[in-house]
Amino acid sequence: MVDAHKPLMHTNENSAAAIQWRSGQLISSRFDDIYFSSADGIAESTYVFVEGNRLPERIDSRPDKSDWHILELGFGTGLNFLNTVAFFQSGKLPARLVYSSCELYPLSPDVLEKSLETFRSLDSLVATFRPVYNSLWDCWCQNGPGWYSCYLPQFNCVLQLALMSAADMLSDLLQPNATVNQITAAKKNQAPKLRPGPVDAIYMDGFAPAKNPAMWSFEIIENLARLSGPGTSLATFSAAGQLKRDLIQAGFQVQKIPGFGRKREMITARFLSQVTGA
Ligand SMILES: C[S@@+](CC[C@H](N)C(=O)[O-])C[C@H]1O[C@@H](n2cnc3c(N)ncnc32)[C@H](O)[C@@H]1O
Repeated sequence: MVDAHKPLMHTNENSAAAIQWRSGQLISSRFDDIYFSSADGIAESTYVFVEGNRLPERIDSRPDKSDWHILELGFGTGLNFLNTVAFFQSGKLPARLVYSSCELYPLSPDVLEKSLETFRSLDSLVATFRPVYNSLWDCWCQNGPGWYSCYLPQFNCVLQLALMSAADMLSDLLQPNATVNQITAAKKNQAPKLRPGPVDAIYMDGFAPAKNPAMWSFEIIENLARLSGPGTSLATFSAAGQLKRDLIQAGFQVQKIPGFGRKREMITARFLSQVTGA
């Protein structure tokens, strides 16, 4: 669906999201999978990603002003992003949130808005984010894949969004000299730079591994490990055995915990150490 705002100017004409609505739920036609739980997207996002990364306890035990850097694979509707901002705001944290995410198939602003409209508790955040996402979409339509940086003072947050594959995003974060398109600037006349790792928490949210193996390859896991440090955590809705084995091999300590809603299990992990030769 590529019908909102400006037409795509860059060559990747097929790169916007192909979606459909089934009983009001947003589905990816390309991957035949849902963006978030139809039962309760906010509760799922909080349970799997915010609590799965133990952010509430960790934030309480780190009351300083140093930035929190969260890395997400799969920006989608921005629900996890906005829900994480809401969580940070609820504790009135002095720390700034740096949120890095990637999206290979961006959703048009109309679809993004429609998919978030049932989450009334996020209304004011969606309203603040709307013009920023509109500018981002227009800029992406003109320029195509790349990095887009949005400074959001109302959210005490910098969103650095990689509109490219997860694999390319992680490579760029490991060698952070990519050009960054500035959507809203932190400082006048200052080109934004990529904030590299190590990151504090990782959200793996790239559709089911069986439907989208590119988001769950061992190369991706290895690069997540390279962007991790002592204390980095990871959480995902998936409980796939291969993912568990890959995370362990890359240096994470892995735990399976009960999943959200009807999902039996999900994975959380904590980074232990770089594997020699990794
Ligand atoms: C489950 S959805 C993410 C939901 C999202 N976190 C949210 O809060 O709405 C998975 C996302 O990953 C994106 N995606 C799929 N394959 C990708 C890839 N190889 N690189 C980057 N993004 C990808 C999809 O387009 C989709 O938006």
